Amino acid sequence: MKHIDLSKKVVEMIGVTKKFGDLTANDAIGLTVHQGEIHALLGENGAGKSTLMNVLYGIYTPTKGQIRINGSPVEISSPSVAISQGIGMVHQHFMLVKPFTVTENIILGKETAGCFGKINMNQAAKDVSKISEKYGLQVDPLAKVQDITVGMEQRVEILKALYRGAQTLILDEPTAVLTPQEIKDLTRIIKNLTAEGKSIILITHKLKEIKESADYCTIIRRGKHIGTVQVDQVDEQQLASMMVGRTVNFKVDKQNGAKGGPVLEISGLHVKDNRGLPALKGLDLCVRAGEIIGVAGVDGNGQSELIEAVTGLRPIESGSVSIQGKQINNLTPRQIHGRRVSTIPEDRQLRGMISEFSIAENMILENYYKPPFSKKGFSQTAPIKENAQTLIQRFDVRPDDPDYRAGALSGGNQQKMIIARQIANNPDLLIAAQPTRGLDVGAIEYVHKALMAQRNEGKAVLLISLELDEIINLSDTIAIIYEGRIIGLLQNGDADEKKIGLMMAGHVN
Ligand SMILES: Nc1ncnc2c1ncn2[C@@H]1O[C@H](COP(=O)(O)OP(=O)(O)OP(=O)(O)O)[C@@H](O)[C@H]1O
Ligand SMILES: [Mg+2]
Repeated sequence: MKHIDLSKKVVEMIGVTKKFGDLTANDAIGLTVHQGEIHALLGENGAGKSTLMNVLYGIYTPTKGQIRINGSPVEISSPSVAISQGIGMVHQHFMLVKPFTVTENIILGKETAGCFGKINMNQAAKDVSKISEKYGLQVDPLAKVQDITVGMEQRVEILKALYRGAQTLILDEPTAVLTPQEIKDLTRIIKNLTAEGKSIILITHKLKEIKESADYCTIIRRGKHIGTVQVDQVDEQQLASMMVGRTVNFKVDKQNGAKGGPVLEISGLHVKDNRGLPALKGLDLCVRAGEIIGVAGVDGNGQSELIEAVTGLRPIESGSVSIQGKQINNLTPRQIHGRRVSTIPEDRQLRGMISEFSIAENMILENYYKPPFSKKGFSQTAPIKENAQTLIQRFDVRPDDPDYRAGALSGGNQQKMIIARQIANNPDLLIAAQPTRGLDVGAIEYVHKALMAQRNEGKAVLLISLELDEIINLSDTIAIIYEGRIIGLLQNGDADEKKIGLMMAGHVN
C-alpha cells in the first residue's frame, strides 16, 4: 500500500441515505477513500453500489447525509459539480455516442474553440494521445466508437474522465464485459493511476480481482454498510460471507448424468459477421439431452455469431442447424422458440428485456400472445402477475414487485429476471450466453445450480462463456472455438486451464 496517503481523505461519504419512493437503496452508508488508494465496493446485486456512486457523481441527490471532498463539505448537485470536484465515473453500462469518433467523445462538452469558433480537433487529438500514453490507455483517436471493441470503449470512458481532470475515478463493474487479457491491461492501468496519486473506487463482483488489486473493501448488503476491511487481512471466502450473510459454495455439485440423444446438431455452418466477413467457417457441434457443452474461446472467435445463427437472428450462408432432428435454418426467432429453444442472451439490455416494461411484462415477452396470458386477444392481468410472482420468488429477483419497471432494476437483477423467464419456458435446448455476467457470487451459485438442474432433468444446455472457471465448473464437454470453428473437444476431467488456454490460442496437438 505504498502509494496511500492516509492523511488525505479525498472522499468521505457520511451517513448517506438514498430512497426511491418506499425503497431505501442506501441506508446511512459511510465510505472514506484516501489518496492513492484502490477501494473496492462489494455487495450483492441490488445492494446499492451503483446508487451510492451515482450519489457521489451527482446523478442522484441523497435523501440524507453529507459528502466531503478533500475535507470540505460539498453539495454535489450534478455531474458537472462532481467533475469540478475531481470525480470521474465510468458507468456500468457505457454512455458514449456511437457515431462519434473517440476524440469527439472524449472532448464532448469540453471543446476548445480556435479561430472563428471552429473546434481545434488536431489539438484535441494531441491532448488525448498525451494522456493515453501517460497511463498506457491505448485507443485509436480517429476511430468511430461504433467500430471499436468493448475494451477500447472502456478506455475511452476512462480517458474522458481523466481529460476532465478526475482525481478520484469510479469504475462501476469495469471488468464484467472484458476478456481476461483486457482485465490484465485494466489492472495495470489502475495501478499506474494510483502510482500517480489518483484514487480508484472499484465496483466488482469478482473476489479474485479485489484480492489482486484493492487495498480496502467496503461491503454493503441490502443498502446497509456491513464493514470496511483491509483486503490483505481477509480471504475470498470471508469477503463472500460478509457480502451475502452466509457461506457461499464456489463449486457446483456435478452428478453423473445420463446422456440422451442429440438435441442440437450443427454441421458445416458458415455465417458472416456484421461487416460481411466470414465469422463461422464450417462449424460442427452436437449437444445431447442431459449434457452441458461449454464453448470456450477468446472473445470474437465467432461465439456471438454462433448464438445468433442458432436463434434465428443472423442468416445462415451454408451448413445446417437442426433441433431434435429437424432443420431450423433461417427460421424466425419465434419459430425457433416454438421448437423449444430458450436463450439467455449475452447483451441483456439489447436482446433480453424491454426496460420500459414491468417485471411481469418482461416475464412473458415470448409468450404474451398465448393462454393463459392472453385470451381472445385480451391480455389477462391476474395470470400475468401470478406468473411473475412465482418466478420472482424462485429466482430471488429484488425487489419482489411484479409492477416494478425492469429498467430500474439493478444490473444483476435484470439478469436474474431474464434467466427466470428462459428456464420457465421449459426448453429442450437452453442456450446460455455469459449467463452470470454482472452477477454477485451468491447469485452465480444459484444460476449454476439452476443450469445443472436443467441438465439433470435431461435438457441440452449450450453454455457460451468467457469465464473459464464457469466453463470448467459446469461443462461435461468443453468445445474450443477458434476462428469460427470448433477445433477441439475436451472431456471435463482431462481439461485444465492451461490446456484450454493453449487451445484457445489455436494450438491443437
Ligand atoms: N432509478 C431508480 N428508481 C427506482 N429504483 C432504483 C433506481 N435505481 C436503483 N434502484 C433500486 O435501488 C436498489 C439498488 O440498486 P443498485 O443499482 O444501486 O444496485 P447495485 O448494488 O449496483 O447492484 P448490481 O450489482 O446488480 O449492479 C435496487 O433495489 C434497485 O432496484
Ligand atoms: Mg450496479
